[in-house]
Amino acid sequence: MKILIVGTGYVGTTTGLIFCEMGHRVTGLDLDECKIQALQAGKLHFYEPGLGDLLTKHAAAQNIYFTKRTKEAVEENDVIFICVGTPQNSDGGADLSYVKNVAEAIGKYMNNYKIIVTKSTVPVGTAELVTNWIKKSQEDLIPFDVVSNPEFLREGSAVQDALNPDRIVIGATSEKARSIMKELYKDFHCPIVETNPKASEMIKYAANSFLAMKISFINELARLCDELNINVNDVSRGIGLDQRIGPLFLRAGMGYGGSCFPKDVNALIQTAKENGQPLSILESVVKVNAEQPLYLMEKIKDALGGNLKNKTIGVFGVAFKANTDDTRESASLKLIEHLLAEEAEIRAHDPIVKMEKEHQFRTIEETVTGADAVVICTDWDEYKNLDWASLKSLMKQTYLFDFCNMVDKEKVKSIGFQYMGVANH
Ligand code: UDX
Repeated sequence: MKILIVGTGYVGTTTGLIFCEMGHRVTGLDLDECKIQALQAGKLHFYEPGLGDLLTKHAAAQNIYFTKRTKEAVEENDVIFICVGTPQNSDGGADLSYVKNVAEAIGKYMNNYKIIVTKSTVPVGTAELVTNWIKKSQEDLIPFDVVSNPEFLREGSAVQDALNPDRIVIGATSEKARSIMKELYKDFHCPIVETNPKASEMIKYAANSFLAMKISFINELARLCDELNINVNDVSRGIGLDQRIGPLFLRAGMGYGGSCFPKDVNALIQTAKENGQPLSILESVVKVNAEQPLYLMEKIKDALGGNLKNKTIGVFGVAFKANTDDTRESASLKLIEHLLAEEAEIRAHDPIVKMEKEHQFRTIEETVTGADAVVICTDWDEYKNLDWASLKSLMKQTYLFDFCNMVDKEKVKSIGFQYMGVANH
């Protein structure tokens, strides 16, 4: 099947290459000249483990090609995936202007029956809007179907997630579109949830919001565990083994960040308000998440004597999580903001992310030299087994705040660190 992917960002590029793996021919369309040039040259314009190899493989085999030419791309393909961004509006809702532009272009250039699939996370009712936008821009009444088929992949493990999904959701109104979509996914071995577009759109928001809720739940519980001297990791394990709860997304830490959870939870809250059915539970999820970096900054401040002015803090990790160079809504950056507001001196390290020169240090050793405290903010593997004894010798004071609960606390304590995790007692 010939597939067009519109929007060669993170979701679009991954989706396109996974379809290549499944034996389809893919065209990647983007209006951004730089992105297209990079992809044509076999280079990813973002960091994602394993995806570069797939790009090299399928570009060489001519299974995928990238273009800026919308008309030809629409004419030549049967199934068109919309993978453009849906950034957050000032009211918290999703900005659909990119989706609208794509829909109008598809309507204008459509030459025969097409299936238009929304892969981007879009609010409930968007499939209907896309249908109307396409109809309005058509010159001839060529039939088409709009399908919602949300993507659930995570940054940092996008290839594995996209190759081995837990489920595929297909929200369609016509039998023809549904059967073509099922044919497209026939080599994936997972349940397919068949529903209408509205329910499919809701599934995506509900999934992300539920996961965000698990995280805020455990983070707020961790604050209570802190007061009661309880290890929250034991609580996570103890409740997670209950199959009705499940073990994942119960890691207490700095709070959730990234390009999806914060934006999607806000968008669902906005949809709920607009429909007169507020989701107060999600409003609390957002509140707890916003408080978490501030709560942790206060912990640092208390430990360092109630004043951070001129204290030097080495921050390990700036990305919103490991294995990505993405800093959108990064809790680490939020903590840094709070620390700077207290007039602390920040030295930051990240294996991949580049920060402003004044804060970033190239090596771990440079970052900790003269520091009063080190704060681990992102769970990069390389922070797990550092030579803490020699790092300690470079520091002024020996406070270690492990907000990813990832280092061996007994070991670092025995070396002489004053260790504090997130309710990691
Ligand atoms: C998320 C969804 O998981 C994915 O299905 C969707 O398609 C896009 O949004 P992503 O944002 O890439 O993926 O990252 P994810 O691994 O889900 O983590 C999101 C945030 O939650 C990160 O900041 C992470 O550190 C945090 N997190 C995750 C926790 O704080 N605790 C956990 O137990 C799990």
